[in-house]
Amino acid sequence: MKALILSGGKGTRLRPLTYTGAKQLVPVANKPILWYGIEAIVEAGITDIGIIISPETGEEIKNKTGDGSQFGATITYIVQEKPAGLAHAVKIAQPFLGDSPFVMYLGDNLVEASLTNFLNAFQTQELDSLILLCPVSNPSAFGVAKVDEQGTVLGLVEKPKIPPSKLALVGIYFFNHNIHRALAQIEPSARGELEITDAIQWLIDHQKNVGSRQIEGWWLDTGKKDDLLEANRIILDTRLEIKVLGEVDENSEIIGRVKIGKGTKIINSTIRGPVIIGENCLLENCFIGPYSSIADEAILKEADLEHSVILRQAKVLQIQQRIVDSLIGERVELKVAPKRPKAMRFLIGDDSQIELT
Ligand code: TTP
Repeated sequence: MKALILSGGKGTRLRPLTYTGAKQLVPVANKPILWYGIEAIVEAGITDIGIIISPETGEEIKNKTGDGSQFGATITYIVQEKPAGLAHAVKIAQPFLGDSPFVMYLGDNLVEASLTNFLNAFQTQELDSLILLCPVSNPSAFGVAKVDEQGTVLGLVEKPKIPPSKLALVGIYFFNHNIHRALAQIEPSARGELEITDAIQWLIDHQKNVGSRQIEGWWLDTGKKDDLLEANRIILDTRLEIKVLGEVDENSEIIGRVKIGKGTKIINSTIRGPVIIGENCLLENCFIGPYSSIADEAILKEADLEHSVILRQAKVLQIQQRIVDSLIGERVELKVAPKRPKAMRFLIGDDSQIELT
């Protein structure tokens, strides 16, 4: 059994962060999203992992994630020259996959459920494919499946106007070698991509066994800011270990579940968990409220923050108002004069969003 993680793509929905970096490396609770997927795959006993990367962001992913040894896995990187669709990514991975069955995992998805039971179902039932489904309130925004009582998949539709069910396709799929036959037959869709839903539909139309399971617990596709903040909230709520390695002075107060990395200094501040603060940060005269993640080497002075993610080396200085529901990129500097400002000066990248409410 092998795994194929898709970590290329354009990431248009997470601009401007994705102009300079891979969306799969944006941290959730200070850990790249991609690594949660790798860990879930290794936990299910699969250690031969291929990762699809794009020419633009592939080097960064490789440098950060390495050869897999830190996860107890072997990673093979496969460059996809253009983001020509999920099925296209599988096609170019054929030399890596060979005839092996594999799990395909979208590198920006996070699920609570363990993969082990799904892998067992796929193997014991000798399925050609097993897809995972999650009931959603807005199925028209997803790939949607129609299934019978046994979970056999009768058909799939991509973003249907009139959905046949509320069951959306989660970004995790199991396949055996027959998927390659399907991939050889399908044509690009109206949006010019080779669609994995078309390949699975081909399997169904050719009497292959396509099963499904509903996942329990949460499933998050972190492609957009609000989904990412939600992922951050859930991970901080459910998986944060309390550990204070940095220095906290006597005028500071740490309340609830908080993790602070080594080399970080907290001066005259209140941290109300769940909160994670990385290594070598400086926080002075701050209030850091629940569901905040602050990455390494960030500097915050006179800042009041809640339900927000601050990336590496960002500086947030002398902001009088509370910052909420925000995602602040690497090396961003945010500063407002202590008195009511007469003028504001900006140097803001394309597609940035600023809201003074
Ligand atoms: P998507 O989120 O569907 O696509 P995208 O990354 O281009 O993002 P956006 O819609 O914001 O422009 O992709 C799901 C995952 O699959 C994501 O981790 C990127 C990856 N992917 C590839 O590796 N190759 C591809 O050709 C495509 C379309 C996606």
